[in-house]
Amino acid sequence: MATLRDLFLWIGLWYISQVQGISKFTNIECLSMDETFTNISLCRLYAVKRDVVEMSLRAHILDWPKRPVSMRMQLLKKASGYKPFLYNVYQSDVCEYLEKRNHPFVNIILNSFGNRTNVNKCPVPPEIILEHFRFPVKVLDLMPLPTGDYGLFTTFSFDRKERAQVKVYFTLTEYR
Ligand SMILES: *[C@@H]1O[C@H](CO)[C@@H](O)[C@H](O)[C@H]1NC(C)=O
Ligand SMILES: *[C@@H]1O[C@H](CO)[C@@H](O)[C@H](O)[C@H]1NC(C)=O
Repeated sequence: MATLRDLFLWIGLWYISQVQGISKFTNIECLSMDETFTNISLCRLYAVKRDVVEMSLRAHILDWPKRPVSMRMQLLKKASGYKPFLYNVYQSDVCEYLEKRNHPFVNIILNSFGNRTNVNKCPVPPEIILEHFRFPVKVLDLMPLPTGDYGLFTTFSFDRKERAQVKVYFTLTEYR
């Protein structure tokens, strides 16, 4: 027999299942400032179904320098323009990072790619691929973020010049 307690439990579960957030990519921009370093042949989002968006990216690495390639990963949050938010990580040597995996924020981002990417260690493959990558919802358990519109900008540099940049935009919303 259903008791009042069961009823409240049921309402509670129903409520929780309704308070689901939408988290999805909204835009991606890729830029090669140095066509002798990389050319980007694919950089786009695909709407798979309602509220499900996949990202694909392909970049030919034409000449990976012997000198270290650095990486900056910066999170931004929209508030009358995109403003730096929480994370701004600089890694002076991508290859060294890939070997050591010693930065929590970058680890979370790169681990979320799972087997959707062919990048693992140096030497990086001649063509870097990220395919059918959906927003990694589990990341939000490790790194809770308030609702809002975000950008994640990743910039690769060497010899003190920016060579390539990927800007990924995503939105986190809660709805009932
Ligand atoms: C990019 O580089 C690859 C490898 O050299 C080449 O096959 C391809 O045609 C290039 N694409 C563009 C758009 O330059
Ligand atoms: C990638 O991993 C998922 C589960 O983690 C698996 O279902 C899928 O077959 C894998 N794909 C490839 C190409 O290994």
